[in-house]
Amino acid sequence: MELDFQGRVALVTGGASGLGRAAAARLVRDNARVVLADRDEPPLKAAAAELSAMPIVLDVTDRAGWARAVDRIEAEHGPIEVLVTAAGVLEPPRPPERITEQAWEKTFAVNLDGTRFGCQAVGTRMAERGRGSIVTVGSIAAAEPGPLVIYGPAKAAVTALTQALAGAWGRRGVRVNAVAPGYVRTPGLERGLSFGFVDEAKLAASTALGRLTTADEVADAIAFLASDAAAAITGIVLPVDAGHLLAGGWAPHGGFGEATPPPAPPPRRGR
Ligand SMILES: NC(=O)c1ccc[n+]([C@@H]2O[C@H](COP(=O)([O-])OP(=O)(O)OC[C@H]3O[C@@H](n4cnc5c(N)ncnc54)[C@H](O)[C@@H]3O)[C@@H](O)[C@H]2O)c1
Repeated sequence: MELDFQGRVALVTGGASGLGRAAAARLVRDNARVVLADRDEPPLKAAAAELSAMPIVLDVTDRAGWARAVDRIEAEHGPIEVLVTAAGVLEPPRPPERITEQAWEKTFAVNLDGTRFGCQAVGTRMAERGRGSIVTVGSIAAAEPGPLVIYGPAKAAVTALTQALAGAWGRRGVRVNAVAPGYVRTPGLERGLSFGFVDEAKLAASTALGRLTTADEVADAIAFLASDAAAAITGIVLPVDAGHLLAGGWAPHGGFGEATPPPAPPPRRGR
């Protein structure tokens, strides 16, 4: 899909890696002036140089850092019209009784507070100017129970925040939507797989399409939601998951005509 962000400044958090980087690449291709924000300076600078984007070092959990970053970006490049909040962290899966305060706080700080601070810092200015589009990054983990007992609730809160902001700012010209990616082979997921709780083949088999989602596919959805092509769309959570969320009911059957009838239960004795 052809999209055009000519003359618009887009800020992408988590832009040094994975989905943030892919979204930034897509926005650059669609003529946006892209600023990449990330806490890790060397990969941030490398990504920015490769994508012809502007780097800014920012820890998204640092509220004061957000204010400084937005001031600087707007002074140097002009008003931010697109915000993509892709910075996020997975936690190693663990049973609920072994949740640590530290893991809970970190997972919520980056995924939820990082999104909230960004939306407040940038969205407030967008609302004052009457123009802007925000795309947050949720997860299918928000919509289904799984072993990520901190990350799932944190992403569910990101989803709820996205919808609350869409309602609050809609009449002030700001749209706020979320993508809910499925499993995408990014450096972040690689680390998740290295925890060893699930493997790639099982993740692929859990989707209607029988494969993982690519970072570029998520980036396309982000760019669409951020663009004028989605001018009447706000407050949605768009799964980009190769059909993972719908596959639960179908997975056991394998599709029409392909199902192997289950073996009959053993006869009961004494009847
Ligand atoms: N990869 C997947 O399968 C998947 C699925 C669903 C949702 N997501 C979400 O997509 C987003 C991107 O994930 P990814 O897979 O590309 O991960 P990734 O680890 O490849 O990239 C995440 C980036 O965020 C940055 N980051 C982390 N904490 C930060 C902080 N405090 N301040 C600034 N930057 C910070 C990292 O440095 C990294 O560059 C995350 O929100 C993640 O939860 C990913």
